[in-house]
Amino acid sequence: MSENIEVLYSENRKFPPPEDFAAQSKVPKDIYEKATANPLECWANEARKLHWHKPFTEILDWSNPPFARWFHDGEINVTYNCLDRHVIAGNGDRVAFYWEGEPGDTRTVTYKELLSEVSQASNLLISLGVTEGDRVAIYMPAIPEAVVAMLACARIGAIHSVVFGGFSAESLKSRINDAEAKLVITADGTYRKGKVLPLKPIVDEAVAQTPSVEKVLVVRRAGNDIDWAAGRDLWWHEEISSMDTTHTAKGFPAEQPLYILYTSGTTGTPKGILHSTGGYLTQVSTTHRTVFDLKPDSDIFWCTADIGWVTGHSYVVYGPLANGTTQLLYEGTPDTPHQGRWWELIEKYGVTILYTAPTAIRTFMKLGRQIPAQFDLSSLRLLGSVGEPINPEAWLWYREVIGAGKTPIVDTWWQTETGAIMVSPIPALTDAKPGSAQIPFPGISIDVVDESGSTVGKNQGGLLVAREPWPSMLRGIWGNPERFKETYWSMFGDKYFAGDGAKFDEDGDIWLLGRVDDVLNVSGHRLSTTEIESSLVAHDFVAEAAVVGASDETTGQAVVAFVILKSRHEQKISEAESVHELKAHVAKQIGSLARPRDIHLVDELPKTRSGKIMRRLLRDVAEKRAIGDTTTLADADAIKRIDEKLN
Ligand code: WTA
Repeated sequence: MSENIEVLYSENRKFPPPEDFAAQSKVPKDIYEKATANPLECWANEARKLHWHKPFTEILDWSNPPFARWFHDGEINVTYNCLDRHVIAGNGDRVAFYWEGEPGDTRTVTYKELLSEVSQASNLLISLGVTEGDRVAIYMPAIPEAVVAMLACARIGAIHSVVFGGFSAESLKSRINDAEAKLVITADGTYRKGKVLPLKPIVDEAVAQTPSVEKVLVVRRAGNDIDWAAGRDLWWHEEISSMDTTHTAKGFPAEQPLYILYTSGTTGTPKGILHSTGGYLTQVSTTHRTVFDLKPDSDIFWCTADIGWVTGHSYVVYGPLANGTTQLLYEGTPDTPHQGRWWELIEKYGVTILYTAPTAIRTFMKLGRQIPAQFDLSSLRLLGSVGEPINPEAWLWYREVIGAGKTPIVDTWWQTETGAIMVSPIPALTDAKPGSAQIPFPGISIDVVDESGSTVGKNQGGLLVAREPWPSMLRGIWGNPERFKETYWSMFGDKYFAGDGAKFDEDGDIWLLGRVDDVLNVSGHRLSTTEIESSLVAHDFVAEAAVVGASDETTGQAVVAFVILKSRHEQKISEAESVHELKAHVAKQIGSLARPRDIHLVDELPKTRSGKIMRRLLRDVAEKRAIGDTTTLADADAIKRIDEKLN
């Protein structure tokens, strides 16, 4: 931490919006008052800024909670709103994406060109027999075709399920099977850290066990050699070239499903979070415009999230495109070919708004300010953070080093389930406070409650809940309405339980305190302890396993596993080899993002008398701090022996 930052922090300062920033903002000053007075009418006004094929007459139907219907008698086409509307308004030549590949190759795609490609892709999907309500799995790198594929599904009323390219064949397979996808869209490979990372072989392995898949469409990106299943596999470029470049978008009911996005929960099986169209598009576009103080005709927006995560869905694809934004899309890693690549891109494209994750910021902090200092970052006028709590030190570094000591920062709290930003400052109106996500977005009703559902006092920890339905809320869990009710609504009955701990401070600002369930957050990516434990015990060597999230300076949390080996295996290979093998096994089963940072081989696990593993105590061991209360343990010495062995 620089001296300067220490001073700023110790003053516990708030940062009022810079005068020039406040002066140029078009966000209405009475936005909070209006939303408090009549939240539903405010949401309806926002919805009316979109194009409706058929206007809605009812705003919210909450007669069958927790199943909400927003604007349900209206008809809308998401892609029409993201593309056709802008072209019709005369903005067809505006750039939608400046795309840069990791090797440095570039493409520029205007709104007119994007509409023409999406129309061709829509016609292609139709020709392949994809119809309204069908599921399409998308397993792609950050290339324009990924966005085209998503928008083409949306345009014809098909439901996409994007699976992050870092997930394994096994994870991809289970997601395809759960959604019974008919088509998979992928690429031959992508560039990662200077090398070709093949994707198609992973799809081949997955699709060998997915009876629902009829065709695999392959975008040629990296030119790597791939196997080809004749009759099943089709080249995207060959198929699309003969397609008509026009397609007439029709309106679908506002509750038409838009996508499924799988996310980790507290059990071993990921949940297929389901989002629909009218309410979702309303909230992603409104929050994008307001929280990012957007000027569509002058801003260059860069959200660094992969489209495989919800942030990529809401703030690369749907929100920004609905608002006619010009964006930067970058394929590769931040440190290829050099550690200043992001800053070089910001300078090159004149990025004005950067939206990224605290993990990235902490990584850059470690590398040192001399790297960004080599580039001209003066185009930046706003910075955003998402995915995990941002510690005040990282917040201050971000503002000082990347934002030249004056750029406002928005720390935005939300989830795959909420679909769009729920808690955040508004940069032109809010005095920013490092480390706090601050204020519910206008029209959103957030509370922090104790286990009985009563609001907790200031500075007391509690559980974050949403008191009222919101337009972009999840509509359910794919194929599992009971799990939807159980996970989010059984705790309090009438309130949405987010799974996050939080508190209000003396000013009423909200601080997020991390997950209260068995969900880990590694570099802003959600993982389930149970899922990793199941993967470990599925291995031949393993008798028992317990996984915890230990705090990590860079990634926020890290996966730490405690494993008891089956005794017959202990003889055959060394401890180091077992650990290596098990780490590789988890990466292969779930994806490299789940690979444990540490695996500790132990002889026992701390359990209660009823046999429940006490992960809280293992976390103490993993974080090398004093062991907490052990009175409920069956054998209070067990944890001490583990601690002695490891620390
Ligand atoms: C965490 C990502 C603190 C939180 C959009 C939440 C945050 C989970 C913040 C959702 C933030 C996200 N401050 N914590 N600004 N943003 N989280 O579904 O624990 O990948 O429940 O959505 O990330 O992760 P998800």
